Amino acid sequence: MTEHSSTTLGIVGLGYVGLPLAVEAGQAGVNVIGFDVNPSVVDIVNAGESHIQDVPASDIEKLREDGRIEATSDMTRLGECDVVSICVPTPLSKTRDPDVSYILAATESVAEGLHSGQLIVLESTTYPGTTREVLLPALEATGLKVGEDFHLCFSPERVDPGNPTWHTGNTPKVIGGITEACTAAGVEFYDKLLDTIVPVSSTEAAEMTKILENTFRAVNIGLVNETALIAERLGVDIWEVIEAADTKPFGFMKFTPGPGLGGHCIPIDPHYLSWKMRTLNYKTRFIELASEINSEMPYFVVDKVREALNRQKKSVNGARVLLLGVAYKRDIGDVRESPALDVLRLLIEDGAEVAYSDPFVPSLHEEDLILESVELTDEALSDADVAVILTDHSGFDYVSILQQVRALVDTRHASPRDDLGAGHSWIVKG
Ligand SMILES: NC(=O)c1ccc[n+]([C@@H]2O[C@H](COP(=O)([O-])OP(=O)(O)OC[C@H]3O[C@@H](n4cnc5c(N)ncnc54)[C@H](O)[C@@H]3O)[C@@H](O)[C@H]2O)c1
Repeated sequence: MTEHSSTTLGIVGLGYVGLPLAVEAGQAGVNVIGFDVNPSVVDIVNAGESHIQDVPASDIEKLREDGRIEATSDMTRLGECDVVSICVPTPLSKTRDPDVSYILAATESVAEGLHSGQLIVLESTTYPGTTREVLLPALEATGLKVGEDFHLCFSPERVDPGNPTWHTGNTPKVIGGITEACTAAGVEFYDKLLDTIVPVSSTEAAEMTKILENTFRAVNIGLVNETALIAERLGVDIWEVIEAADTKPFGFMKFTPGPGLGGHCIPIDPHYLSWKMRTLNYKTRFIELASEINSEMPYFVVDKVREALNRQKKSVNGARVLLLGVAYKRDIGDVRESPALDVLRLLIEDGAEVAYSDPFVPSLHEEDLILESVELTDEALSDADVAVILTDHSGFDYVSILQQVRALVDTRHASPRDDLGAGHSWIVKG
């Protein structure tokens, strides 16, 4: 039994971030209580099952058998925990302002059970200042003092769904506390669970680290998408250019163009910083520009579909379009903010008959979109007027796709090609 065997960790929010952390902690010998307002999530975990692709059900089952993990919707039990980690969603509102309502609700529950000696860690991605401005006053309203009676830290989660190499346990973890004693308490706790801990001087530095990482990706994806649009105008194959640039052993990092930004983080997190800076009268120009370019990419893809159909003397209206992949990235089933949904909506608006095939997304239930994935048969491929590769799942047979389709728009450079440098590289057939 490790020295953590008497520690109880409460994890508020058992989603993509909270559940892997729960497993990591349980396997290190910590007693984990997972709190979730969604009763079906609680039932799944208590049944020894998993609703997160990267977390094997066998891990949960084993931890359940060992009595290391339980899930509950009863927030009053937060008082039983020595450490509480908050992993609730931080979406944007309809007007693209931060929606910290989940953080507020979770903080209220934590405050009710707050007691002397407790360590509270916010892990949800948010704008610099949230921990100090939102959590701290609510927790100190209990009469307990930070750095003395309880400790408060921010520690961003860096989980990369579907990544076979880097997972919660071996990804370095940044942590910053409200006081030095808070940081020390946070480091001491996580040090026993994870391989590498990176302490920083404040909660704001930790909050901003996460936003910098995701802004870095959003801006570089924006840059490579714009370069792809430029290459298209010049008749140059962007993927040939990227592959050549990537042979430089220093000073270049490969990013690839695609149908737009997707996922729960990259399209959203930078806007948390933009919002914060608007309150300080500063415009975050790189973020705005990257967002503008990235959100135009679905329109560009639809233009390519239109061009491919035009070559067959057909219009989008009435055309049969088959989308290959709707998840926001390879080999996962997550469609949050997926640009494929924008492409789908734009094509439907233009009168296309759209079907999709995605082995990871058996059905789509968005507000306005209810569709079932079709099986990727030769017939489904040859029936379509045009197919569009939107997600480069490794299970797709790209050779057969290329053979069967009448026309193919490939937004991921996934289909086989022997004509590098031919230009017009988005329409690979038709
Ligand atoms: N998904 C990722 O890859 C990723 C990576 C790094 C950081 N993040 C950040 O981590 C945070 C959580 O993201 P996620 O992807 O795990 O979200 P998620 O939607 O997968 O899971 C969040 C869970 O929190 C629960 N919940 C909501 N309000 C609650 C409350 N008041 N009390 C208890 N449970 C509550 C929900 O029911 C849900 O099960 C976000 O801030 C996100 O930006 C996500």
